[in-house]
Amino acid sequence: MDIFRIEGPVQLSGQVTVNGSKNASLPLMAAAILAAGKSVIKAAPRLSDISVFSQLLGQMGCKTARTDNGDLCIDAAAIDNPVGDYEIVRRMRASICVLGPLIARCGRAEVSMPGGCAIGDRPVDIHLHGLRELGAKIRLSNGYIVAEAPKGLTGKEIFLGGPFGSTVLGTANVLMAATLAKGTTVIESAACEPEIVDLANCLNEMGAKVTGIGSPRLIIEGVTDLRPFEYQVIPDRIEAGTFMVASAVTAGELTLKNCRLGDLMAVVDRLRNIGVTVEAVNNGCVVARKAGSVIKTADITTQPYPGFPTDLQAQFMALLALADGNSVVVEKIFPDRFMHVAELNRMAASLRKEGPAVIIAGVKELMAAPVMASDLRASAALVLAALAAHGTTIVNRVYHIDRGYEKIEEKLNPVGAKITRISV
Ligand code: EPU
Repeated sequence: MDIFRIEGPVQLSGQVTVNGSKNASLPLMAAAILAAGKSVIKAAPRLSDISVFSQLLGQMGCKTARTDNGDLCIDAAAIDNPVGDYEIVRRMRASICVLGPLIARCGRAEVSMPGGCAIGDRPVDIHLHGLRELGAKIRLSNGYIVAEAPKGLTGKEIFLGGPFGSTVLGTANVLMAATLAKGTTVIESAACEPEIVDLANCLNEMGAKVTGIGSPRLIIEGVTDLRPFEYQVIPDRIEAGTFMVASAVTAGELTLKNCRLGDLMAVVDRLRNIGVTVEAVNNGCVVARKAGSVIKTADITTQPYPGFPTDLQAQFMALLALADGNSVVVEKIFPDRFMHVAELNRMAASLRKEGPAVIIAGVKELMAAPVMASDLRASAALVLAALAAHGTTIVNRVYHIDRGYEKIEEKLNPVGAKITRISV
């Protein structure tokens, strides 16, 4: 198990290139199931979550491989075992998005029911509701979701909203299943995240007929078959947002390449409000904060896209911990996603959780401490805090970070960070 030793404070300066998106690549990998043949995802990041998803596809009968130039190839010529095994699903909840494509391609699927995780209960009832509406017969057996549609699926008007608004992977599941259904499907209250837009664009490259892309009303005319794809995944907006905060928290100046500002408007708006400059440049942006300038306070509420993303809530908390006064962060997607609060307090932050909100009393400086990574984005927040903190921070359980950030130390050390990975 690796740990990070991080020396601070540092001031970051230079250029960092953002990877292809993890959360767009995973549904694209599931989409490969829909076509008998070899699909290629260009710029898929080299992350442990992508490797785990490759294992999942491998157990079904797909062959996955990386080419020398980094493309991820998925050969789904034959799927002889439409099963999502518990051992894999328990490691990665995103595995659930094979359910829709498997039913559409094979007429049946057995996928382990995901459990909760460090960020909350995370039910899949809306996924199942949508697939049932398309005609799948679904039951739970020994912890597995068993779905059958031997005569295929049939298009329908489906409302897919839930208590927290739209669902990203629920939309992906129902959208992929509907591409091969008979007739027309309308998904009302669909997720509008850029990752869903990317998936829908890729499905259309495969021969699907999806319109309303990027809106909460997706219309899908079913087709009888789809062809394999070769498709370049979008840049990772959450990795980009994390590097933006890295620049801001260290009073640095980072140029981010392969970054789409349009996917990050809520984040850019908050950054500008608290005194950080964000300027668009060719294929990216420059994010800077003057040394010695104050970080102004902010009120942040996480929301479905285009609102402020829950996946950047923890990282912003590390930044607002150093703000000049009190800030409030309200979590409206995963109300329990606050495992980082106690760890940041160990670094001399002053955060107080009140139900689904955290009140942040800004402090003058953070202090290094040994801390524990609990989930992917919480871990990123600890790394950001450590860059600004005085002393040597030890971040334990770095494997959480490796799920979503490709060698973060190799990206940040060339621009001034002092992060050492140690195997213990
Ligand atoms: N929800 C339900 N029922 C469902 C599905 C969702 O009640 O059937 C609730 C969830 O519990 C949550 C809300 O709806 O309160 C939204 O969850 P959503 O389904 O949108 O989350 P997800 O699709 O499981 C993806 C990302 C997450 C990201 C969320 C929200 C991937 C692989 N995962 O999860 O990313 O936080 O959308 O934007 O795309 C991460 O990358 O660190 C991560 C957790």
